[in-house]
Amino acid sequence: MNTAIVFEDVSKTFEVKGRAFEALRHVDLTVERGEIFGIVGYSGAGKSTLLRTVNALERPTRGRVIVDGLEISALAGQALYAARQRIGMIFQQFNLLESRTVYKNIAYPLKLAKVPDAEILDRVEELLAFVGLSDKALAYPSQLSGGQKQRVGIARALATRPEILISDEATSALDPQTTGEVLELLRRVNEEYGLTILLVTHEIDVIRELADRVAVMEDGEVVEQGSVYEVFSAPRTATARRFVSSVLHHIPSEEVLAKIRAVHHGRLVQLHVEDRDTNHPFLSQVARDNDIDFNVVFGGVDELQGRLFGSLTVELLGPDDRVDAAIDGLRATATVTAIDPAPALRQAQGPGVGQQGPIVEGYEPLAEDPNTLKEHTHA
Ligand SMILES: Nc1ncnc2c1ncn2[C@@H]1O[C@H](COP(=O)(O)OP(=O)(O)O)[C@@H](O)[C@H]1O
Ligand SMILES: [Mg+2]
Repeated sequence: MNTAIVFEDVSKTFEVKGRAFEALRHVDLTVERGEIFGIVGYSGAGKSTLLRTVNALERPTRGRVIVDGLEISALAGQALYAARQRIGMIFQQFNLLESRTVYKNIAYPLKLAKVPDAEILDRVEELLAFVGLSDKALAYPSQLSGGQKQRVGIARALATRPEILISDEATSALDPQTTGEVLELLRRVNEEYGLTILLVTHEIDVIRELADRVAVMEDGEVVEQGSVYEVFSAPRTATARRFVSSVLHHIPSEEVLAKIRAVHHGRLVQLHVEDRDTNHPFLSQVARDNDIDFNVVFGGVDELQGRLFGSLTVELLGPDDRVDAAIDGLRATATVTAIDPAPALRQAQGPGVGQQGPIVEGYEPLAEDPNTLKEHTHA
């Protein structure tokens, strides 16, 4: 069985002052064994709530969470305790016992599991070496830096030899340098111990550095998911685009788009081009074929997971029907995302709409939208 975690139509409703609040809405996700799966979203998106259903700290109102083939959301008592042994968890605030030494913090879950002391000693020593803190066994948490505390948190999470590690904003309290070190350690946890890692974060950089696949959450829903390469090279939703544009600078932010619009009044589209093994000049070819002009107004090429990809924001200039035909032509080579309203919508909203406001206002190109043209083949 190659599936580590399955969320099946998971919803969660909280009662807040007599009113129902939907923190999770119909979440369907599958995390494969051995992968690093990242969930990104802004504060309040429901990331922590979703993560906490994995070890049943939170129970779905509907739907199921299946971990290692067991429906954890239906377990209780001893069966739940046993299932939780297979799942380690780390936290933003580390959650260490301040009155106990590093050694005792790491030994704690083993004590609870009634592991013999001699075995605990061996295991804790091994873990201390793994996280690079062998000289800190007798230190107290207050004597450690944030990065060292998180290393202890990771060692403790690994103590019972879990197969899955869940991480809730584990690096969000750390500076960038320390974040890098902790992410490197998590990579080793994945590679050397073979753990499946499910991490949630509001920091897209963490996803970029560490994850194989990513899901984007917003208002309790998964709005986009795919490989990190797919989502970063061609984000489809406004939320994903906002996250990606904050780290990959060839995708224009809303502020930059507003500036572009102030000057460029033609149809704006974003072209996402994957690693290509041809020098075919598709953009000028399509413009010639359809007798339109174009301006490249923003863009660049980036590298991710060893593969190149490019994103160009292009203004297409010509009559609507020829621009439409040109967009069709571009689809043969690139994934095309419409930035501007479709002509019908533009007319309905009156002139000048293309020059105002962020791309999310009035028009948000979603996957279902015919103007978001999600297809790619190579020329
Ligand atoms: N126990 C709870 N009771 C009521 N509301 C909650 C509870 N836990 C979370 N929420 C609400 O659910 C939403 C999602 O929270 P959370 O999962 O913590 O989001 P995130 O981790 O993405 O910031 C928030 O609006 C939060 O206030
Ligand atoms: Mg959270």
